Amino acid sequence: MPGNRNILLGVTGSIAAYRSVDIARRLIDEGADVRVVMTEAACRFITPYTFEAVTRNPVHCDLFREPFSHINLSKESHLFIIAPATANTINKLSCGIADNLLSNLWLTYEGPVLMAPAMNFRMYRNPLVKKHIRELKKSGVQFVGPVSGSLACGEEGEGRMVEIPEIVEAAVSALTPDDLTGWNILVTAGPTIEPIDPVRFISNRSSGKMGYAIAQAALRRGADVTLISGPSSLKPPQGASFIAIEKASEMEAVVFKHLKKATSVIMAAAVSDYFPSDTAKVKLKKTDAMALNLKKNSDILLKLGKQKGRRILIGFAAESGKDIRSAKNKLKEKNLDLIVLNDISQQGAGFDVDTNVVTLINKKGEITGYPIMKKIEVANVILDRMLESDK
Ligand code: CTP
Repeated sequence: MPGNRNILLGVTGSIAAYRSVDIARRLIDEGADVRVVMTEAACRFITPYTFEAVTRNPVHCDLFREPFSHINLSKESHLFIIAPATANTINKLSCGIADNLLSNLWLTYEGPVLMAPAMNFRMYRNPLVKKHIRELKKSGVQFVGPVSGSLACGEEGEGRMVEIPEIVEAAVSALTPDDLTGWNILVTAGPTIEPIDPVRFISNRSSGKMGYAIAQAALRRGADVTLISGPSSLKPPQGASFIAIEKASEMEAVVFKHLKKATSVIMAAAVSDYFPSDTAKVKLKKTDAMALNLKKNSDILLKLGKQKGRRILIGFAAESGKDIRSAKNKLKEKNLDLIVLNDISQQGAGFDVDTNVVTLINKKGEITGYPIMKKIEVANVILDRMLESDK
């Protein structure tokens, strides 16, 4: 998220209040300064002191403690999150009732608002609560959840506050400028696997982390994203159209099926260059030696380059060493706008790590090297350069 962001975190009286401590912690990890405002009921579930320790900021509970806190706190904040938001607070805010510090802040605050409701499922399906949620949505409030699951009262139903990463992701998205609105980005990620028999396959090393980070960064910036991924243990980012494939031939078919509406394609996948020419239908018995006959997969990126039209095409070159010449050749041969050279021999680059060290080369031949960065930061740099190529 952009730097120097102040987030006002409103905590109301639900058993889920204890989970807000984790929201505060993770927002701070994302670089935000978090100020907490609690209702009196929230203080019955968790003490302000816990939030003070986590945020290193004073926690605000009392409307009459500091004059003008109901104005100053809201003026200084870039996002107002209310999590958990109880039925009582939702109904009050929708009606404009200002009887505590949180609801007073609500009336003075003019920026984006995110609410994560938490309540018993009977309360959530109450027509009055539904009506007030509709009203708040109409006035621009973004709701995350609630979801179905086990509730504190021991019952099951829709009313549980969503998982923390979802709230944090919605917060980061709300604070990220939507400079990719109107873009339709096709991202490939992960390895492809090419079966030898029903249990064995050949593949490339790839966790999918770089491609998933690109998809996530693009979504945060307002793009429509289709993520086409080989097997990966990662959870697809919320909001992406996700298509799981296994073989390179499947990836190729899905890429070309979705190409028409794409404004850019980013091929971060580690596509297997070869596949076994004969796939056994039953598991092969072990023998002392085995020879595999491999055929070449078609190069998806090369094919894309031949029919790219006005699309921006971005490829990756994973090399052992900073092989600029080879990356430049790939850029030219595959008709790319940008190539991301990834020296897998460097520390902090390559597979299964959260960082990467890349050099970007554009079609004008400009070479830009970057220091070690988190994959989400690398993703944003690639997207910035994609925007530049469009000019
Ligand atoms: N790629 C592809 N289809 C393939 C192989 C690779 O679309 N069958 C894409 C990858 O997703 C990547 C780029 O091509 O964006 C570069 O892949 P890489 O394996 O580094 O290079 P190759 O062109 O396959 O050449 P080599 O393996 O000889 O370095």
